[in-house]
Amino acid sequence: MKKEINFVLNDSEVTIAVETHKRLIDILRGPLNLHGTREGCGEGECGACTVIVDSRAVNSCLYPAIEVEGKKVITIEGLLNRGNQLSAIQKAFVEKGGIQCGFCTPGMIMSTKALLDSNPNPTDEEIRNTLVGNLCRCTGYVQIIDSVKLAANTLKKSK
Ligand code: FES
Ligand code: FES
Repeated sequence: MKKEINFVLNDSEVTIAVETHKRLIDILRGPLNLHGTREGCGEGECGACTVIVDSRAVNSCLYPAIEVEGKKVITIEGLLNRGNQLSAIQKAFVEKGGIQCGFCTPGMIMSTKALLDSNPNPTDEEIRNTLVGNLCRCTGYVQIIDSVKLAANTLKKSK
């Protein structure tokens, strides 16, 4: 059974008919053609599929697509600035080596964005607590924490 839903995706209004059993990640990577959001475990364990729904980081592999009706969704594609320039958070991950194979990176960055939007001055512990649901097999996490701290500093200076 299909249901029409309306929501805002990366600042654009979207109307789409979705099968009621589909997950948010299914429609993002499927009909909406946004492949930046990754699927790892598909069970809410790895965080690779993290996107932001109404300012909150969620696992899109567990989030029913029809639940985004009337909400605002941001994916990694929505972080690019005008002229397709990388955002401050993305640049910080590049600069501090928070990206290696890159599989976890969209999820890490979306969790970081949700954190810094609500808490521009996070402590190391707050950063660790935020990213506890985002697994990385490559970096050992130190570079990721450094990336978040650099992003926080850059964003503070730009205000
Ligand atoms: S793919 Fe969603 S948490 Fe792993
Ligand atoms: S950079 Fe490879 S899983 Fe994180």
